[in-house]
Amino acid sequence: MIVGIIGLGYWGPNLVRNFLAQDKVSKVIACDTLSERLKFVKTKCPAAELTNSSEDLIYGKADAIVIATPVDTHFDFAKKALLANKHIWVEKPFTSNTAQAEELIEIAEKKNLKIFVDHTFIYTGAVKKMKELADNGELGKILYFDSVRINLGIFQKDINVVWDLAPHDLSIMNYVLGEHHKIAAVSANGIANYNGKENIAHLSIYFEDNCFAHFHINWTSPVKIRKMIIGGDKKMLVFDDMENYEKIKVYNSGVEMKSMESIHEALVQYRTGDMYSPKIIQTEALSLAAKEFVDSILENRQPLTNGTDGLNVVKILEASNKSIKKRGKVIEINSKSFVEV
Ligand SMILES: NC(=O)c1ccc[n+]([C@@H]2O[C@H](COP(=O)([O-])OP(=O)(O)OC[C@H]3O[C@@H](n4cnc5c(N)ncnc54)[C@H](O)[C@@H]3O)[C@@H](O)[C@H]2O)c1
Repeated sequence: MIVGIIGLGYWGPNLVRNFLAQDKVSKVIACDTLSERLKFVKTKCPAAELTNSSEDLIYGKADAIVIATPVDTHFDFAKKALLANKHIWVEKPFTSNTAQAEELIEIAEKKNLKIFVDHTFIYTGAVKKMKELADNGELGKILYFDSVRINLGIFQKDINVVWDLAPHDLSIMNYVLGEHHKIAAVSANGIANYNGKENIAHLSIYFEDNCFAHFHINWTSPVKIRKMIIGGDKKMLVFDDMENYEKIKVYNSGVEMKSMESIHEALVQYRTGDMYSPKIIQTEALSLAAKEFVDSILENRQPLTNGTDGLNVVKILEASNKSIKKRGKVIEINSKSFVEV
């Protein structure tokens, strides 16, 4: 299989390296309009073929096109590539709005082409373990999901911090919680201190089953924190991505209501038991993601992180932007549209 990669900025060279390492990929053609980025890739990955023309790449011999350019260019490249009968890998966030995501999904379905959205975290050992613990019932009923992703981040020209950082956490949440937890509404607050794009934001997500999720994202924090807590009614889990070894800790902690005869007599008791840190797979996530994309094409099946997963994240991002503009107004999400309440 021949893979073409457009965009060799910060992220693209990682994709070139990982696709070159796939044994079912015979050639990687890497593309950027900037000659210094082509030179950089030539030095780091000499086996890659290079071009400065995305048109030559899209209408050439590649079987699949990987799009690693800024978000506001994803849709045009993706649509062109699908119409040219290429499978596509699109970086997160999938598109700039839900209408674009839906259009791409429709084209791909009609042409039986695969859309892979790079929700890289889904391929990490830590997130796979979180999913396993949620699915096998060890955490019990999931009550809340609380996440912090803050540091001195790179300001993006075309998107705010929500569109830059939250796709990671939202994709993890959607994957771990699964389809049976339906999102009901989103409320978000944020502020732009510098370039008109929010650099700090707080997102709250309400679920139909009373589960609740909160995300704190910030490009302007003096400290780097990448932490998530999943509260279950049996056990609670902490994922600290800044830890090198014990990234996941499972706490046998919880809250129990002892007497319910009358609400005033209800006695809240805390349970604080043992903590353990499960072993997690260390393989580079991007290498597993690239393998999944290639296999999904060869096996003619949907990849684990597909267009619909990309769309589900974009829906929350779009609702968040609407809410931020109205200082936290609750935006209901249903399958067809957004409703302000
Ligand atoms: N999955 C992840 O963990 C992860 C991490 C970082 C970035 N990303 C995503 O990757 C994408 C790119 O981010 P980045 O930080 O690498 O951006 P970047 O700005 O560093 O790089 C983008 C590159 O695209 C090139 N480009 C733009 N238009 C082009 C065109 N018409 N033809 C050829 N090349 C063109 C630019 O010259 C630049 O080199 C974004 O969608 C971002 O959200 C994903």
